[in-house]
Amino acid sequence: MTSPDELLALARDIALEAGELARRRREEGVTVAATKSALADIVTEADREVEALIRARLDAARPGDAFLGEESGADGREADITWVVDPIDGTVNYAYGLPEWAVSIAAVAGSADPAEWEALAGVVYCPATGDVFAASREGGAWLGERRIRTNAEVGPAGGLIATGFGYDPATHAAALDQLARVMPIARDIRRAGAASLDLAAVAAGRHDAYYERGLNPWDHAAGALLVAEAGGIVSGAPGDRPGKAMTIAASPGIYDRLVEVLDF
Ligand code: IPD
Repeated sequence: MTSPDELLALARDIALEAGELARRRREEGVTVAATKSALADIVTEADREVEALIRARLDAARPGDAFLGEESGADGREADITWVVDPIDGTVNYAYGLPEWAVSIAAVAGSADPAEWEALAGVVYCPATGDVFAASREGGAWLGERRIRTNAEVGPAGGLIATGFGYDPATHAAALDQLARVMPIARDIRRAGAASLDLAAVAAGRHDAYYERGLNPWDHAAGALLVAEAGGIVSGAPGDRPGKAMTIAASPGIYDRLVEVLDF
């Protein structure tokens, strides 16, 4: 059985190579290839090319593992380890030339379903800043060479709380109502546009909390492990695992208050 740290080393190498390819393609100019679940939900040629690269590297290194990627889906293999990949998380930022986009790669055990899997290793790499966030099960969370932890305390001004709105217009009115309930416990709100980086920011203490409904497995697989290994709390609705219905990631100092105002 491969250790989480060995899986992490592979994920890190591949994420760096993939991020470099995405960065080069961004410099050359981005083409939107298609829309997906909604008009605002786009895929670029680079998303597809970067995912193909990641998949080929994983296949070469670990041919028996399964794969679940944002652009090419699940390969349908039964395997002990599944790689869950978002080649470019924050595609809209990427297309607009904003820096908040990342390569997200996780290795999970047990099942390719976030309700059941056990995340073993995860990397979120933001090429624009050079930040490499990495975590392995029971190995802690790291930003480069530095161990990271969620914030110990949230001051009287409230938490710096990030969120996102997803692509489905039918969910936006409820999301705005929810945001109105969150405002009183927030010193301010952030909407950066890349769920993996929002989660990494909670792990690194750059945000106190993050929540969003509608995430897909590849959006949170690596980032949720980062938060858990950094001492934060990650859940769906209370008692649930993170997933499509809700993902909440917070430092312990604000998790309960956030759950209370989100009002499940
Ligand atoms: C999206 C981003 C965004 C979040 C969406 C995700 P993509 O991922 O993470 O912040 O609000 O729900 O789908 O489409 O850029 O890979």
